[in-house]
Amino acid sequence: MSEKIEVLITEEQLDKRICEIAEEITRDFGSKDITLVCVLKGGVMFMVDIAKKLKQKVEFEFIDVSSYGNNTVSSGTVTINNGLETSIEGKNVILLEDIVDTGRTLSHLIKYLKEKNPASLKLCTLLDKPSRRVVDINADYIGFTIPDAFIVGYGLDYAQKYRNLPYIGILHLENQ
Ligand code: IMP
Repeated sequence: MSEKIEVLITEEQLDKRICEIAEEITRDFGSKDITLVCVLKGGVMFMVDIAKKLKQKVEFEFIDVSSYGNNTVSSGTVTINNGLETSIEGKNVILLEDIVDTGRTLSHLIKYLKEKNPASLKLCTLLDKPSRRVVDINADYIGFTIPDAFIVGYGLDYAQKYRNLPYIGILHLENQ
């Protein structure tokens, strides 16, 4: 099986859209401090790039979640391998996802985060695949709405590969 990658979103398009989202967040939050909660590992690039463009005081938190293993289809079971390190009680939290696919991960994490009593909770995803949704859930900030395809690059992986691509691509698995 050979792996081919078709460019879907270029580095320039990513940069432009991330600037726009950061402006929206900056406008919405005003002078309030923000706690960014990054979903590992896919959300790392997005968190770093968006954080640099926010004007508020920003704290970083990480949650390690797994649902895919080495497949291109979700296992359907969301496991939190490592949760938050510090309290988010009374804080303005933005949960940063790389991609919302079925919506299972996001809905699981919303429940987990709400139980920790943040002052507010907003959801921000770089990519949205609404055609695959099984849980009725939508993000407050969306970078790009994309078709039903398996995506790699800019943090997203296939069997831990391709996370370091500076663009977003569609992975094609082909018989040689
Ligand atoms: P969901 O729970 O089905 O919405 O899936 C969310 C998680 O699955 C994301 O945070 C990603 O880690 C992973 N995922 C979903 N779609 C893709 C994809 O196209 N490429 C790589 N990872 C994906």
